[in-house]
Amino acid sequence: MPVFPALRLSRRTLLRAGGTALAASAVAGGRSLAASGADLVEVELLAKPRLQRILPEPAAPSPLITYAERFPGPVIRLRKGQRLRATLVNGLDEHTSIHWHGIRLPNAEDGVPFLTQAATRPGERHTYEFTPPDSGSFFFHPHCNTVELLGRGLAGALIVEEEGGPKFDADLVCMVKDWILDKATGAFGDFTSDRGASRAGTFGTVSTVNGRIDPVIDVPANGDVRARLYNVDSSRVIDLRVEGTENGGGAWIIAVDGNPLPPRPLDGWPMAPAMRLDVVFRAPKEAGKTLRLTNVYSAEPKPLATFRATGPALPNKRFAPRALPPAAIPEPDLKTAQVVPMAFSAAAAPQSFDSALLTTLPEADSRCLAAKTFWAINQQSWPEGGHERLPPPIVTLDKGRSYIFELANLTPHLHPIHIHGYTFKVLSSDGRPVVPHHADTVLLEPKERLRVAIKADNPGDWMVHCHIIEHQDTGMMGYIRVA
Ligand code: C2O
Ligand code: CU
Repeated sequence: MPVFPALRLSRRTLLRAGGTALAASAVAGGRSLAASGADLVEVELLAKPRLQRILPEPAAPSPLITYAERFPGPVIRLRKGQRLRATLVNGLDEHTSIHWHGIRLPNAEDGVPFLTQAATRPGERHTYEFTPPDSGSFFFHPHCNTVELLGRGLAGALIVEEEGGPKFDADLVCMVKDWILDKATGAFGDFTSDRGASRAGTFGTVSTVNGRIDPVIDVPANGDVRARLYNVDSSRVIDLRVEGTENGGGAWIIAVDGNPLPPRPLDGWPMAPAMRLDVVFRAPKEAGKTLRLTNVYSAEPKPLATFRATGPALPNKRFAPRALPPAAIPEPDLKTAQVVPMAFSAAAAPQSFDSALLTTLPEADSRCLAAKTFWAINQQSWPEGGHERLPPPIVTLDKGRSYIFELANLTPHLHPIHIHGYTFKVLSSDGRPVVPHHADTVLLEPKERLRVAIKADNPGDWMVHCHIIEHQDTGMMGYIRVA
């Protein structure tokens, strides 16, 4: 059994994501409204504080903030072609919104307060509606005060199932996240510090998968298991392995950020915050035998979870990872593409929060603006002081044209760069061989220059930022305009 129920939705299903019991009954009794022929899935997401035990006793349950009864919930599953109507209900004492990370959606549904929508105030509701054009493993999270809200667990998974392609005997979500907890009491520590924000980020003290410390996750004996690995941490880069497989080959990557690529061994693909890998591995034949999910990024490899074979062994078949059906991402024309430099650097001079911006950016407040700026894109920190309204875009692109972004990391730190509304093609790096692939977030190594390309077919203002949340919050954010 997976460690938490996935919400499998079909036809027109109304579902309150408030509780696992409700979720489970929605799975069992998924109400089909025959009146609508449309493949519409409706979900309600109530963001509010909820207690959840992360640490063993005598520590107390921790004060999380979640979209469902338990982190990491909910897992929204759509079939490709289905439309999602998701209503955020703000049960917090601050404004918020939902950003649908990795989805190529209309700009108005992108969930960035004061850029694409008005912030949803306490007690208010906001409905998002879109049909994801691509299958894959996506997620969603807020876009202001993210350092605290995501730090407390405000994130959920959005899975779009592909049509056709290989069959798996199990399909799991594994959300890797550390928590900044006092191990004795279960209370949260400070989510940010100048030291963390200006360097590699503030790290958690407790590592978990799906909110549990070293959980045992049951998988069907001798089955082919698809695991959707998510790094939803705010700071930590991980590099995962599945150890102990009987064929010795470990797991194979079949998608990056939800985008299929020719299967390749899971053997050195670092995952920065927000990155996802879909992998497939063969479970042990004999019930009770286990595999380990391990993070080998640090000097000391760290076991994160155990996969345990259960049930009668499935019939023998050769283990041969197959490619998922290809995505239909608009192909950039590299011959005519214009090169746009984007330099990620430290801020010229650390600036302090300018409260005058509160009056010039009516939708923004201290939760959306940097308290300090340590970082910049093309020498502009977010927010850039002294503007009448929003800071200007990093660049304005012509709708329909192709562009190559030359992402230059001028710092000695890692920066996973995310672009909203687009899935880009990762082309090349000046520092390492690059496996050509599509992604929505790419890890820039210190001093690296990396080229990614898009066809600018999706109009609107789209955020570009580092997904180390403290970097995003202290200036390493901007937006591109496609018009
Ligand atoms: Cu997960 Cu603005 O991003
Ligand atoms: Cu960064």
